Amino acid sequence: MLKLGIVGCGYWGPNLIRNFNALKEVEIKTICDKDTERLDHMKELYQHVNVTTDFSDIINDSEIDAVAIATPVYTHHKLAKQCLEAGKHTFIEKPMANSVTECDELIKIANEKSLILNVGHVYLFNGAIKKIKELIDAGEIGEIYYINMRRLNLGLFQVDINVAWDLAPHDISIISYLLNERPVSVNCQGKAHINPNIEDVTNISLNYASGRFATIQSSWLDPRKIREVTIVGSKKMIAYDDTKAIEQIKVYDKRVSVPPHYDTFAEFQYSYHYGDIQIPYVKLKEPLRAECQDFINCIQSGKKSIVSGENGKAVIEILEASSKSLKENGAEIKIS
Ligand SMILES: NC(=O)c1ccc[n+]([C@@H]2O[C@H](COP(=O)([O-])OP(=O)(O)OC[C@H]3O[C@@H](n4cnc5c(N)ncnc54)[C@H](O)[C@@H]3O)[C@@H](O)[C@H]2O)c1
Repeated sequence: MLKLGIVGCGYWGPNLIRNFNALKEVEIKTICDKDTERLDHMKELYQHVNVTTDFSDIINDSEIDAVAIATPVYTHHKLAKQCLEAGKHTFIEKPMANSVTECDELIKIANEKSLILNVGHVYLFNGAIKKIKELIDAGEIGEIYYINMRRLNLGLFQVDINVAWDLAPHDISIISYLLNERPVSVNCQGKAHINPNIEDVTNISLNYASGRFATIQSSWLDPRKIREVTIVGSKKMIAYDDTKAIEQIKVYDKRVSVPPHYDTFAEFQYSYHYGDIQIPYVKLKEPLRAECQDFINCIQSGKKSIVSGENGKAVIEILEASSKSLKENGAEIKIS
């Protein structure tokens, strides 16, 4: 039985606790949070678990094999570094850390000590996203022209990161997974309306060497909860709505083509194709359960996860470039 410590049981931590607790290979030994009210609540729900406000109780417990971190982003690097240095496999909620430098340091320690370091990019375990990937890889939609992502709602305002760092990690991880390509440059614009210097609305553009293009709109200041992905290809187009309980993916047999040759302007005509709309079947499974199971499988097998530290760092590279672009009013920032 693998013994686990979990730090952070605010808004998101309890979801990790519930899912890890359901895995037969895992025993949650200790939950840590600075907030004693949150700990009292967890103790009511999970009476067999130790609770503590002192993180060193987890670090110094040689029985604890692995730690999951669900605290605010500014604490991730410090807490994860302590876990890894103490020889514990480490799972960090997204976004991995505050900078690429911090990610590099964590990856280096994990690799040197042969420890699993995973990041909570939960959408890579989402059945609908996997189905879309299958469709793309099978050539169903043809060559991808562009991807547009919209993740909007009212709140939850964060105080240590802007909305791009809060919401766009999901979109960046999805786009990178679907395209299997790293962007060469990033532009980002945004505005801080409520808290000075913390943008609550941002638009990120990702430019690719292949000519593909992606845009990500993130907002804490929108009346509706929107979680949409649109993928436009040369053959078909896909729309995915994550707020729907069923029929989340629609594949539109729509496209536009330009005649290959024309002699005069009068002969030039776009050819629009309007065909059927298909709704692929997606088996519903909790992605977070699969993400927790993946962390345990990696620890047991020693294999690298699709959400390894390296994958987490690739997301931070784009976020870091987007912050730079924001400061320079949307200027194009190259990604090394
Ligand atoms: N995967 C997802 O869909 C998803 C959704 C929401 C949040 N998250 C991520 O989860 C993490 C936590 O977010 P949240 O919304 O739950 O935040 P939160 O503020 O609601 O909860 C964080 C908790 O951590 C505790 N804490 C802070 N510093 C601590 C420390 N040094 N030691 C012990 N406890 C400490 C706080 O007391 C609080 O209870 C963030 O990285 C966030 O991006 C992921």
